[in-house]
Amino acid sequence: MSEYGRRPPPVLLLDKVVKEYDGDPPLRILHDIDLTVAQGELVAVVGPSGSGKSTLLSLIGTLDRPTSGRIQLEGHDLTALSDRQIAALRARSIGFVFQQFFLLPGLTTLENVATGLLYTGETVGRRHERAVRALREVGLAHRLGHRPDQLSGGEKQRVAIARALVGRPGLLLADEPTGALDTASGRGVVELLLQLNAQGTTVVVITHDRDLAASFPRRIGLQDGRVEFDTADNGAHGREQTYEHDHGHDYGLGPSPSPSPSPGQSAWRRPAREGTA
Ligand SMILES: Nc1ncnc2c1ncn2[C@@H]1O[C@H](COP(=O)(O)OP(=O)(O)OP(=O)(O)O)[C@@H](O)[C@H]1O
Ligand SMILES: [Mg+2]
Repeated sequence: MSEYGRRPPPVLLLDKVVKEYDGDPPLRILHDIDLTVAQGELVAVVGPSGSGKSTLLSLIGTLDRPTSGRIQLEGHDLTALSDRQIAALRARSIGFVFQQFFLLPGLTTLENVATGLLYTGETVGRRHERAVRALREVGLAHRLGHRPDQLSGGEKQRVAIARALVGRPGLLLADEPTGALDTASGRGVVELLLQLNAQGTTVVVITHDRDLAASFPRRIGLQDGRVEFDTADNGAHGREQTYEHDHGHDYGLGPSPSPSPSPGQSAWRRPAREGTA
């Protein structure tokens, strides 16, 4: 749980963020997103397929720029930074984990994790030392020399997490990190994320996984590119919804189902946290 008494700048602040893709008329994917994430938060982003979750994460992760609006990362206004400055900020402050791992096939576990430190300019020896430590944290110290094709799915994702955290970023972003894993491996990955958060890392995770989302203290729901609910917010976005797909349907392939509130009985519904704006 974060301490708000001293009010450090939020890790993340989005102010009327809009994302459009070119077209005639332009295709608006995100509409006026306002969002604040404080240091140490653990946030799940949920919503139907196509609602804009990955688009939002790529803006937060500085992989893409908004069409309009303002994004502040660790107090830095991204609109005021050059691409080069943004790349440096990203390398220092953000770790990414994706559903498909994106490990480099020709490299060992150790080397894959050490690539997360290339920007630091440290010696190979030092980078490998830190990579070993990160791999120990994810329980893979015994697989240093394996290549990705010699690892299980859950192990691959733990390598990807070690690579994301080896540089000690303040913010870990994960897009469906358990999406390609079986239940047991997925649970291991979730426990790892919770553990990293307990050590102080701010974590934002996109997930279709209802159980995963339910284990997070804050959930933000997107629908058609808008924030439909935010459990940290008692105001306009305070009403958490559940979707049909939350009850086990595969909604990744079909049209977005209508949200169906389930008052009083939702396992998701928890008291909103205090002290966040
Ligand atoms: N480069 C692009 N050009 C045009 N439209 C795009 C582009 N990238 C994404 N979109 C559209 O933006 C919408 C949101 O996509 P996004 O990937 O953010 O959805 P999502 O919520 O992550 O969905 P899923 O759960 O299926 O991963 C989709 O309708 C998609 O077709
Ligand atoms: Mg997505």
